[in-house]
Amino acid sequence: MKLLNVMLAGALLAMGIAAGAQDPTPEHVAIMKDLGKWMGLMRKGVDVEQNATLLADAMKKVAPMIKGYPGETKDAMKSCGDTRKGALAVAAAAKAGDKEGIGAGMKAMGAACKSCHEGHREKISDTQYKIK
Ligand code: HEC
Repeated sequence: MKLLNVMLAGALLAMGIAAGAQDPTPEHVAIMKDLGKWMGLMRKGVDVEQNATLLADAMKKVAPMIKGYPGETKDAMKSCGDTRKGALAVAAAAKAGDKEGIGAGMKAMGAACKSCHEGHREKISDTQYKIK
């Protein structure tokens, strides 16, 4: 029994080492590029309500992809939800012409993108990333 436990621990360790960062699906990359594009437009004040709505909707497609991330994904799910919430706040504020609200929503959204990237994005070159 003891030997079995040792073997099991060894197997789990080996799996842990093998389960490193993984390649994102083309769809994941495409959505992320869109998020970056919409965020850039919003920062310039271009079609803020429309771009914030597109971004909020896109987060609904990111959520199911998180299940395929290696390792712990609770924090990623939270970042995803927070990104969507921030985007919805920006859209509502833009509709109401509330500049302060837009600023607050953008800040919340940016922090949520960043928190997921810190935990789950691994840069492998200037143009490529993996999921961790
Ligand atoms: C649930 C986690 C998560 C959230 C939330 C998230 N990202 Fe990402 N993002 C990733 C991961 C993982 C990668 C690396 C894999 C890839 O490129 O698809 C990435 C990559 C990117 C890239 C590089 C794409 C490329 O390959 O050129 C951009 C740009 C980007 N994200 C923008 C954003 C923006 C803007 C937000 C917020 C509005 C955001 N992301 C929110 C996980 C997330």
